Amino acid sequence: MAVLEQKSSQQLIELEDKYGAHNYHPLPVVLSKGEGVYVWDVEGKKYYDFLSAYSAVNQGHCHPKIVDAMVSQAKVLTLTSRAFYNDKLGEYEKFATEYFGYDKLLPMNTGAEAVETALKLCRKWAYEKKGIAENEAQIIVCKNNFHGRTTTIISFSNDPVARKNFGPFTNGFIKIEYDNLAALEEALTTNKNVAGFMAEPIQGEAGVYVPSEGYLAKAKALCEKHGVLFIADEVQTGIARTGKLLAVDHEDVKADILILGKAISGGAYPVSAVLANDDIMEVIKPGNHGSTFGGNPVAAAVATAALEVIRDEKLAENAQELGELFRAEMNKYIETSNIVTLVRGKGLLNAIVINDHEESETAWNICVALKDNGLLAKPTHGNIIRFAPPLVMTKEQLMDCVAIITKTLKEFEK
Ligand SMILES: Cc1ncc(COP(=O)(O)O)c(C=O)c1O
Repeated sequence: MAVLEQKSSQQLIELEDKYGAHNYHPLPVVLSKGEGVYVWDVEGKKYYDFLSAYSAVNQGHCHPKIVDAMVSQAKVLTLTSRAFYNDKLGEYEKFATEYFGYDKLLPMNTGAEAVETALKLCRKWAYEKKGIAENEAQIIVCKNNFHGRTTTIISFSNDPVARKNFGPFTNGFIKIEYDNLAALEEALTTNKNVAGFMAEPIQGEAGVYVPSEGYLAKAKALCEKHGVLFIADEVQTGIARTGKLLAVDHEDVKADILILGKAISGGAYPVSAVLANDDIMEVIKPGNHGSTFGGNPVAAAVATAALEVIRDEKLAENAQELGELFRAEMNKYIETSNIVTLVRGKGLLNAIVINDHEESETAWNICVALKDNGLLAKPTHGNIIRFAPPLVMTKEQLMDCVAIITKTLKEFEK
């Protein structure tokens, strides 16, 4: 009976199309199962996942340890709200703050909520500790950023598709070029009311833009010099993705406010967090901020297990090693390619740039062909394809993926 009722991919796509808002443009594949680096569609075809739900599934699909933690906790206690204590949150907060080296953690659910939390925390710190006059605080952000979808966050996006007809927007942000220290210094010098500087250590959504070596360390030093907070949005780069636990670790930078999401749960559950030391986090008092689900016992159990997996399975080290191999293999291919101009990235957060104009369909068509050949990836902006497999991938699997990618690219050579 169940077999007879199974709808086809096409039928399921039509259902979403008819009953769901059209806020995404998915690749035409309908997944119904995942395990480790693989996913399967409803017809049973197996694929390598080379996106990892935008770097959330770093620990691989349905990691048994994470699923066990989730299921066991779900059977006992799921939600109390923060009106009461629960027996998991404090243990998780102790574990996670020691893990990342901060005094305190503020738990939320999604990446965008954690970014909002960091912005609120930074402003409140500026008024209460730095002495900026109320409502005057400015936060410096970078052009081509992606920090999420809330109204305040899109207020400082420069993506017209994300912004058009969603105004009026939130004030208090100064936009500067990414990877440009002179621009940062000028913004810090000419504005008296700067509370913080927020950046992605690698701009993921924009197309995996890796800043020049030393940028993050020098940006942090400039922030220190001017007494403003350095806020690292590691929602996408964090938790072993780039070959270190955090992407800022490549430059030995410690952010004043650290924003985490996605892989902090291994993609099993929406969990995000903001971490800071006491001198900053103490400005948050009861009633200032919160979330019904933030810090719930299932989230706490899942995140603890997910962070243990990262450490125990040495996923940062694996990402570092496989990332180098991946870029070396792609560079070999690029030497004789007309269709790919470059590969860039760190660890297992990489992208290739397709030799075609921004509005061309080539990157999308390559992703459709990759799908047909058994590997799932997605274009970021225009002609850039992001490659971000789960970090539990083996060398053999990676080489198999390289073979699929190069074979597919060859079909598009001019
Ligand atoms: C750097 C960064 N920040 C924030 C977000 C928003 O996270 P969420 O989609 O969980 O709200 C994303 C999502 O891709 C991201 O890449």
